[in-house]
Formats: sequence, structure tokens, C-alpha cells
Amino acid sequence: MLPEDHAARGPVLRVAETILERAGYRRIETPVFEHTELFARGVGASTDIVQKEMYTFDDGGGRSLTLRPEGTASICRAYVDHGMHKLPQPVKVWYHGPFFRYERAQAGRYRQFWQIGAEAIGSDAPALDAEVIVLLASILDELEVGGLRLRIGSLGSPETRAAYREELQGHLRRHEGQLSDDVRARIDLNPLRAFDSDHPGTREVMATAPLLLDRLSAEDAEHFAEVRALLDAVELPYEVDPTLVRGLDYYARTVFEFTSDALGAQSGVGGGGRYDGLIAQLGGQETPACGWAAGVERMLLAAGDRPAAAPIVDLYLAVDGGEAARLRAFRIGAEARRAGLAAQVELAGRSLKGQLKQASRLSARYVAIVDDTGQVRLKDMDAAEQLEISDVDVVAQVLRGRGLS
Ligand code: HAM
Repeated sequence: MLPEDHAARGPVLRVAETILERAGYRRIETPVFEHTELFARGVGASTDIVQKEMYTFDDGGGRSLTLRPEGTASICRAYVDHGMHKLPQPVKVWYHGPFFRYERAQAGRYRQFWQIGAEAIGSDAPALDAEVIVLLASILDELEVGGLRLRIGSLGSPETRAAYREELQGHLRRHEGQLSDDVRARIDLNPLRAFDSDHPGTREVMATAPLLLDRLSAEDAEHFAEVRALLDAVELPYEVDPTLVRGLDYYARTVFEFTSDALGAQSGVGGGGRYDGLIAQLGGQETPACGWAAGVERMLLAAGDRPAAAPIVDLYLAVDGGEAARLRAFRIGAEARRAGLAAQVELAGRSLKGQLKQASRLSARYVAIVDDTGQVRLKDMDAAEQLEISDVDVVAQVLRGRGLS
């Protein structure tokens, strides 16, 4: 990631931080690698992520480790390991950082990518689902991510899902001949993924498939209705998508995904849902939770290019003399930075003309030319004025000029 890429990312992180911290989410950071077992159990052994996208290695001590493909499992592990159930609930955290998936790289899909994520753990209130969705919507809105669509669904409880799974497997088996090889091979392992298929025969079979949304228990249906009512209350548009399947196994009840028309095939900007069973599955107590993650590169792609503001340079120290002048310039530069100014010292051995050109390239507000006379010529580049002053007065003068003293 080059400096210009960072300049573009800065605002994305700042917007997310402001919106999330305002809602009481606090930053958490988990290790970049974890025991492979955590992801195999947490994300689900049958998922694409675990089956073919993880960077897994032996650490030399016989332990199998994996570069994190996502953040939720690690955060649940941290919640359990650090006894966070003793804190006031829900525990609300957010994170950003690099994640790794071995995928075929293309626009918007990388093997190392960045996510911003938020997780709220310890409440089964529908308001929690709605809150996290609204927060992601606000971030995407603030970033002016174009062509957004929000789809939501409910996967119900594990019991409903198990019964539905069998029903769906029956349907798939009855039409086995029309399915793609891939879907057929996964009838036992993960029949729900058949809804994701682009294969024409499979799509036809799925058009008449039973829908999980029609099989929800009364409690789950009510939970979903409340989430929708809360989204309606804040006038956040969404579409109910009964076939919304996410690529991770830990979801229960609400799932959601934001897509953008501004992206090509990789249209998912961010998504998430409830994962009420995950913490218990990882050895903790039964703890309901909900969250999302959004891809930083995809947010940037969908928001379009916006020129990043150039870094400010208050003072550029040019040297027009020998060793003593260089030392003095170095000292004034250090003093200026200590006083809070953005100051740069000439480091490339340029001629005075070259240094002035460099200062103007940086749009430096002041240029101090340190020469062998023992004085400094301080140029105010905006006012096109020049002062002859002593070393000790340079910083104070620039601070005054910048309105900082
Ligand atoms: P996910 O849908 O797998 O969910 O990933 C979230 C977002 O990460 C995607 O919407 C996409 O923007 C970005 N993303 C994923 N893979 C790539 C890639 N190869 N290249 C670029 N961007 C990518 C999760 O990771 C869940 N942990 C979300 C969650 C949090 N659910 C509950 N809490």
C-alpha cells in the first residue's frame, strides 16, 4: 500500500471511527493469525473460506496456524478468553485491519484486503440488529458509496434451519439431474449455497425450492418483523431477500448485505448478521451477538476517486551554506516540529534553486533559508514577504504567521 493509497484510506477509517465510537463501539485488535481450529469451528468446515481460501501453515512447533480470513471468530475467542461476559452487555467493539483469503484475484477481490468491522455481543434485542445495520448504512452514506442496495433476510434458529435443510435436501435430490456438479456435491454438506449458484439448471430448480423465511418459528418471525420495523422507523430502504445466503456458517436469525451497482462482479460492499450460537460453540456461555464487516477497497472503489488533501508543510528549511548552516537548519527543524509545526529539512543536497523548487512543490507556507551569515531569511510564501531574523525567532515567527501563538 503506497502513501497515496493510505491518503485515500484515511478518510474511510476516520468516518468509520467517528460513527462507531459515537455509538459506543470501542476499538479492538486481534492477532493476524490464530489456531486453524478456531476458523474451522467458527466459520464452518463446509464453507468455501475454510475449504479452499485459508492460508494455513505449520509454525515449526507442530501447531497449525492460519492467517485470519475474517474477524468475528477471533473476537468471539477474545470475548471468551478475557471473560468479557462480566462486562456490562452488550460489549460493542469495532476493528480494522488486513484479512487474507486465497481467492482468484480480480478487481475488488484480493488475497490481502482490509475490513472495517463492528460486533455487538451479549444482547438478543432486535434493536441490536437494526443498530448495526444503520451504523453501516451511515458509514457508506457518509463516504458517498454509490448505487447502494441493502438486502436482509432471516435464517431462523438452528432447529428451524436443520428441519428446513432436510426439506431443501429432499427438493434438491428430487431434481438432482438438473443441478451443477458443484451444487450436487454439496447437497449433504451445504444445500443452502445452492441459492448462490449462477448455473441455469440449478437456478431453475431453486425457483421452486421451499424458502426458509416461510418456515421461521413464531419467535424468529417476530424478531425479524421487529428488525424491519426499526429500519422502517429510520426510513432506511431495504429489500427482503428470502434467498440471501452468506458465505459463513455461524449466522442465525438476521442476515444482511449491502451491494453497490458501482462494483462489477464483486458487488458485496459489506455484510453481516446475527451469530447467536458462535460463542457457545467456541467454549463460552450461550451469548447472542450481531455484527458486520465491510471491505475497505470495495468501499473506495464504489465511492469513486476523490482527490486526497495534500499534506500541509508549514516550514521548509533550505540550506545555503556549509556544515554549520546545515546543523542550524536541522536544529530549527526539530524545534519547529516540537512546537507542533509541520516542518521539513532539505535532505537531498539540492542547490538553493532546487530547494526553493522543492518547497514550492510541497506548497510550503514558509521557507527559511539558513546561510553562513548566522541569520535566517524567512520567506512568507503567501504574502511574498521576506524577513531577516535570528535562528531562535524562526519558530515563533512561523507560529504567529500560522495563527498558532
Ligand atoms: P464477509 O461477507 O465474508 O463477512 O466479508 C465482509 C466484506 O469483506 C465483504 O462484503 C467484502 O467487502 C470484503 N471482502 C471479503 N473478501 C474479500 C476479498 N477477497 N477482497 C476484497 N474484499 C473482500 C465477514 O467477513 C464476516 N466476518 C462479517 C461479520 C461480522 N458477520 C458478523 N460479524
